[in-house]
Amino acid sequence: MPDSPFIYGSTVSQQSFTDREDDSKKLFQNLTQGINTTIISPRRWGKSSLVEKVILDIQSKKKTHKTVLIDLFTVSTEEEFLESFAREVIKASSTKWQEWVSAGKLFFKRLIPKISVGSDPTMDFNVSFDWNDLERHKDEILNLPETIAQQKKINLIVCLDEFQNLATFKSYNHLEKQMRANWQRHKKVTYCLYGSKRHMMSEIFNNPSKPFYRFGDIMLLQKISSEDWEKFLIQSFSSTGKSIAPECASKIPLLMKNHSWYVQQLAHYTWLKTTKKADQTQISSALNELIRANTPFYQKEVESISTTQLNLLKAVVKGETQFTSTKVMNTYRLGTPRNVSKNKTILVNSDVIHQVNGHYEFLDPAFELWFRKQYFNEAYD
Ligand SMILES: Nc1ncnc2c1ncn2[C@@H]1O[C@H](COP(=O)(O)OP(=O)(O)O)[C@@H](O)[C@H]1O
Ligand SMILES: [Mg+2]
Repeated sequence: MPDSPFIYGSTVSQQSFTDREDDSKKLFQNLTQGINTTIISPRRWGKSSLVEKVILDIQSKKKTHKTVLIDLFTVSTEEEFLESFAREVIKASSTKWQEWVSAGKLFFKRLIPKISVGSDPTMDFNVSFDWNDLERHKDEILNLPETIAQQKKINLIVCLDEFQNLATFKSYNHLEKQMRANWQRHKKVTYCLYGSKRHMMSEIFNNPSKPFYRFGDIMLLQKISSEDWEKFLIQSFSSTGKSIAPECASKIPLLMKNHSWYVQQLAHYTWLKTTKKADQTQISSALNELIRANTPFYQKEVESISTTQLNLLKAVVKGETQFTSTKVMNTYRLGTPRNVSKNKTILVNSDVIHQVNGHYEFLDPAFELWFRKQYFNEAYD
């Protein structure tokens, strides 16, 4: 049996990447023409995959551009950020590790980087600094991409994933000003800053009183369309010697509300259960399995919120819009109007619900199905 053509859990940039033609084109143009770009969408819609795909395209088509990609998800201090920033920028500057080692002399004036190389330099190359020096000459690191790009006569594209994570550092306000002040002067470096915590990302990039306001183009990444998903599903089944009925190929994105990760996950389970042709039976059984697999996360989610928040979620799935009307507040026991407004903000800021066309919706389509079953005994499909 061939491997499943569906992938979830890691980024998809070549295999399993569908559509996003306009997004890819726009990002490619921005990044190669020096337009800094911010990408915002809820998690698991496809930002990291899109950036990776475009970076691969740039690497194969634009020899004068070098690229750096850093995931800030696990970076927890400013020092760690600056060190990994320096390390990755140095690594991108050359394909030869011997040249990385001479970076200290070539690219630094005030800071003295401690560079260490292991037996496999590509995996084991480290840069560290004395903390006091680092504090004093942080600009030298923030300017490193431009210094290198000028010296080597190349263009650099620096991509920082889960950028909003930096905002959790104690020293962020100062760092933010320094990043912006330095980066806006860079001529040969383009930045792509993206992240999933929409509330934090908009606060950083959409607030006129913040340094990163108008730093560049903002892309609000949308979901992949139903038609594109259908084509992708049909094509992926057939390329692996199986098939899927057209009405089923539209059912999968419909059930998962076109959510990238979940469409792939449901398609994957359906594919595994299919010997020849996928139909409703396989989809139903795959959906059960998907929800069972995710149930621990959903349970944790409802345990972590208050009773009035949980009740507000019930009103949301029931399609209520006037949360502060006496009737709705009483029916769902939402507490006072102040509770309602506070809870709404909490649930929106933590990306549990979002507003679409004047009403609220769950961001996680499978969590919603589980929730409906759990509290209202509604069937999954
Ligand atoms: N263009 C795409 N085509 C098909 N599936 C995609 C695409 N982009 C994302 N996915 C699916 O969604 C999952 C999450 O994508 P990812 O890029 O990690 O999202 P984000 O960075 O927004 O959290 C991937 O593992 C993959 O299953
Ligand atoms: Mg991501």
